[in-house]
Amino acid sequence: MTGEELVARAEAAAANAYAPYSHYLVGASVLTRDGRLFDGCNVENAAYPLCVCAEETAIVKAASEGVRPGEVEAVGITASPCGGCRQWLHEWRVDRVYFRRDDGSLAEYAPGDLLPETWDLPPQ
Ligand code: THU
Repeated sequence: MTGEELVARAEAAAANAYAPYSHYLVGASVLTRDGRLFDGCNVENAAYPLCVCAEETAIVKAASEGVRPGEVEAVGITASPCGGCRQWLHEWRVDRVYFRRDDGSLAEYAPGDLLPETWDLPPQ
């Protein structure tokens, strides 16, 4: 699956966004190494800090079906991921991240380039 196809899935998933406060619809699609796809959208709450990003929704859907860090090949997003979502993408050891830039072009990144010198929990 190409980055363009994965972002197209994310754009379709954005139609399900529950965003009555921001009216900003976001979609994300997770592609696993074994070819499974998990789509997500942002889900807001009247208590604003409880809003869930589309990337989190898609990753949580994958995780709850047994997917683990290192098993995600790529994530497509309708827009550039926020700082918190960049930490999620790092945690899940995603190989490639694609998103749609405001000018319509497709961006492709390794998560390490989206969040350099990323924080990790020191070994316990
Ligand atoms: N949002 C996402 O879903 N992903 C991001 O990476 C940035 C922001 C959502 C959260 C909220 O529902 C809306 O966009 C406005 O911040």
